[in-house]
Amino acid sequence: MSVTRSVLVGSGSYLPEKIVTNEDLTKIVDTSDEWIRQRTGISQRHVAADGEFTSHLGYKAAVDALQNAGLDAQDIDLIICATATPDNTFPATAVAIQNMLGIHHGAAFDMQAVCSGFIFALTTADMYIRCGKAKNALVIGAETFTRILDFKDRTTCVLFGDGAGAVVVQAQEGEGDTSDRGILTTHLRSDGQHKDKLYVDGGPSTTQTAGHLRMEGKEVFKHAVGMISDVITDAFDATGLSAEDLDWFVPHQANQRIIDSSAKKLHIAPEKIVSTVSMHGNTSAASIPLALNVAVKDGRIKRGDIVLLEAMGGGFTWGSILLRW
Ligand code: COA
Repeated sequence: MSVTRSVLVGSGSYLPEKIVTNEDLTKIVDTSDEWIRQRTGISQRHVAADGEFTSHLGYKAAVDALQNAGLDAQDIDLIICATATPDNTFPATAVAIQNMLGIHHGAAFDMQAVCSGFIFALTTADMYIRCGKAKNALVIGAETFTRILDFKDRTTCVLFGDGAGAVVVQAQEGEGDTSDRGILTTHLRSDGQHKDKLYVDGGPSTTQTAGHLRMEGKEVFKHAVGMISDVITDAFDATGLSAEDLDWFVPHQANQRIIDSSAKKLHIAPEKIVSTVSMHGNTSAASIPLALNVAVKDGRIKRGDIVLLEAMGGGFTWGSILLRW
């Protein structure tokens, strides 16, 4: 049976020039390189320059992804930008990126699911494509998380960084089985009873300020592995594929210990994990497309490979996508 599939035909990314090492952070808060590496696996993160906004990072990642796909910006009829750090409360950062790309047709909007944002955005693009409502979608994860960090709080300010990643997703015909290229299954979940465990203490309706990130780190850690495992099991059940069938596992890059524990629980071999947390820190919605692009550009992820994406973040929100590259 012929079906429409959402095939990832290009990937791109952009990281701001400035790098802040763990050692640099010891000059700002009472911390150490050893503590940060041991607890999180992070050794450095990129930080956006003054005047460099989320839309600028997202635009550069989008241009890179379009080039990689061999498509012109005018071919794009849908832009979804996953971000929790928009340029402004409104309009959407996606609209700013659309304008920078010189696109004045189709639809552009933001997706807010914090660290799961890219999974939610790519799932939404998949729905548009499979319904015949879009032919070429640009899905971007772009963040300037360092702008919402409290640099007096050592428990959070060492964890996050800035950056952007993007993919181009194209409608193509498939057979309707797992031999197809493209997105094979998607699974999204949310549970707002956990909304105060990872949040920003500001906003237009509450404080009229942007606020700062607050987190109960231990609580987040406690729930993460179970939630991630649940949606990955859903992906395996829906497709009949298993951990052995995976070529690559590209998880949200929050913490190496969460990544390793999830992989272990699901029997995913360590050599299949794409990890960039050491170099990027947690870039929230940007982390998966950033990691994906590293593995695509260095030749690890090849056409036809089975790739598993997953994320968990504030809300809580969590989700998985299983695809054939
Ligand atoms: N440098 C040095 N010491 C620090 C520190 C830092 N940056 N941050 C916290 N500490 C201290 C604490 O104050 C505490 O000291 P105390 O025992 O004297 O009170 C000690 O380290 C242990 O703190 P704790 O919070 O128990 O550490 P932890 O082992 O839980 O690790 C996290 C903290 C944040 C690394 C961990 O909980 C975590 O990774 N959580 C998940 C976070 C995450 O991934 N969030 C994003 C999801 S999208």
